[in-house]
Amino acid sequence: MSRAKGKSKASPEPRGVTDMTEDDAKVELKRLADAIAHHDKLYHQQDAPEISDADYDALRRRNNEIEARFPELIRADSPNRRVGAAPSQTFAKVVHAKPMLSLDNAFDEDDVRAFFQKMKNFLRLDTESLALTAEPKIDGLSMNLRYERGEFVQGATRGDGETGEDVTANLRTIREIPPRLRGKGWPDLLEVRGEIYMDRKGFFALNAERETAGEPVFANPRNSAAGSVRQLDPAITASRPLHFFAYAWGEISDEFATTHWQALEKFRAWGFTVNPLSKLCHGVDELLAFYRSVGSERAELPYDIDGVVYKVNDLKLQERLGFAARAPRWAIAHKFPAEQGQTVINDIKIQVGRTGKLTPVAELEPLTIGGVAVRRATLHNEDEIKRLDARIGDTVVVQRAGDVIPQIVAVVKERRPRGVKEYVFPHRCPECNSLAVREPGEAATLCTGGLICPAQAVERLKHFVSRDAFDIEGMGDKHIAAFWEEGTIKSPADIFRLNYGAIAEREGWGELSAQNLKRAIDARRRIALDRFIFALGIPQVGQVTARLLARHYRGFKHWREAMTAAKDHDSEAWVELNNINGIGEDTAADIVGFFAEKHNQAILDDLNTEIDVEDYVIAAPVASAIAGKTVVFTGSMETMSRGEAKSRAEALGANVAGSVSKKTDYVVIGADAGSKAAKAAALGVTILTEKEWLALIGAS
Ligand code: IVH
Repeated sequence: MSRAKGKSKASPEPRGVTDMTEDDAKVELKRLADAIAHHDKLYHQQDAPEISDADYDALRRRNNEIEARFPELIRADSPNRRVGAAPSQTFAKVVHAKPMLSLDNAFDEDDVRAFFQKMKNFLRLDTESLALTAEPKIDGLSMNLRYERGEFVQGATRGDGETGEDVTANLRTIREIPPRLRGKGWPDLLEVRGEIYMDRKGFFALNAERETAGEPVFANPRNSAAGSVRQLDPAITASRPLHFFAYAWGEISDEFATTHWQALEKFRAWGFTVNPLSKLCHGVDELLAFYRSVGSERAELPYDIDGVVYKVNDLKLQERLGFAARAPRWAIAHKFPAEQGQTVINDIKIQVGRTGKLTPVAELEPLTIGGVAVRRATLHNEDEIKRLDARIGDTVVVQRAGDVIPQIVAVVKERRPRGVKEYVFPHRCPECNSLAVREPGEAATLCTGGLICPAQAVERLKHFVSRDAFDIEGMGDKHIAAFWEEGTIKSPADIFRLNYGAIAEREGWGELSAQNLKRAIDARRRIALDRFIFALGIPQVGQVTARLLARHYRGFKHWREAMTAAKDHDSEAWVELNNINGIGEDTAADIVGFFAEKHNQAILDDLNTEIDVEDYVIAAPVASAIAGKTVVFTGSMETMSRGEAKSRAEALGANVAGSVSKKTDYVVIGADAGSKAAKAAALGVTILTEKEWLALIGAS
């Protein structure tokens, strides 16, 4: 696993464990339990870790050391009594028939030898050549795939190890998850476990696309895979380059193997992919040789790994060894150290994005880390530079933990040359010289230049023509920049008023290319509402939000009027916007802010003369009784989670809202329904029980 960025470091460790008093230990164990729970939640539920793997491991190690010295102080909520964090609320819950446990970690050869010796003692075995399998430890997320009579029936995430999330529909889109088992000899009930991951190439391509589209990029393939699997729309999962390696199993109706190695071979025969590097080893020295060999290949592998896993091969022995609190005694993860290197900051440059955000980037004296050339590292924002006290001329520790953008972990203060000056974050935009300001409580510094800022203007135009927006073929980033520079394209509507005769005359163009461009542009004079909304590049309005808006407002004119009216926060329009499930107040404010700007309204007027925005059509089954209706769910339902109820309703063409208003058509009440039911009654909105609801949608 890769916890990303290393943005904030683990808190300084106040005191060595050996000279701790009982009182110190108590305080420290509480702090560590809270901190680890916090980071688990970020990692498992939000796919947004704040600290690096190494820092996380350091927290756990310290916790273990203190618990070992003060066993009587072990807390009920000790990190060792929990596995990961509880699942989030969006998907239906799945209680695992067999808990999905974690692995203990070994950080060096001594740890591995100790693991080996402990097993020998436990089993009273006197052999140096015990057989273990060694496999790469894939940096993805583990899944439980349930097969009944050879059919894939359910896929679930690990969650907290006991309860995960049902992501079956999404997993069905992954090619390496067979919908039906091949061959024969599989048990009637078989749960295959393994790792979903995104390959590095696909990950970089996805991030490049997101960058052009102005969407936030993923920090590393692991986060990206996790985000892709937990999509409410399987079509999005399907578009992501996800893969699966099988390496374990859960509940089974019959035993199908006597060794782990044999199980892997069967998985392969049944249609799964098993990591081809996996190896059957004998004795600890072969394990360590495997570790070194995989370590040396690590940078060339098409996917990220963060260690190797050793597992006792004989399943009878595994059974005898059994499990400790959160991990099996018969397996261990031997972790790789984070890939780091030291280099010098030659310069700090400020990049200006589409929304005017100023991002400081360190230009580094080039170095290679784990076989990958590194020239630049992001410094994120003003606070991060302050936290690190990074200055031009400093020697810094740079880390790649599977992250796209290398991180600066620390400044090597001892190597700071005399006289280097503290870095002063600019108060003006380097591109347009407008004031750059930071709102109270915000981390980002924003250029106030708006449309006069060339960086923002060009980035917005690039976004406008990008694949998920207007999708104008042949209009690359370079063309946009050049057209902007010479004044041919200053605003989006200019794209539709090009003089193709003049373009044909340009160097590198010619008649044919100019005609092709004309065709590509004319083909986009009609555009779907959701694409159009996305193309506008409103801060926080990515594809998903654009679709929500299109779905809700249906037509461009209607949407525009509503957004313009919503400027008044007492208006119905503002309440309605905030009521759309999935749109928070911050996003709503950004949308309304966009319409409040005169020049944006002018751009829309101008575009209106060139293009037609198509009404959003919902592909709902004609027979659906709830197509176009607005539904609110309240209280907990018996037959499905709120997330599932919502996604089903939406699939049938309904709008699901968060709160009850005059516009609500149905309120579906589950157990413990609160004030929403009362409000519905007061407004005369139709109230349905869960049973009535299921009957209405034809699901009972
Ligand atoms: S075996 C009971 N094998 O590492 C043992 N896990 O730190 C179950 N992982 O939750 C895990 N590659 O997400 C196993 N070849 C491999 C693995 C692997 C990656 C992950 C998995 C697990 C975590 C434990």
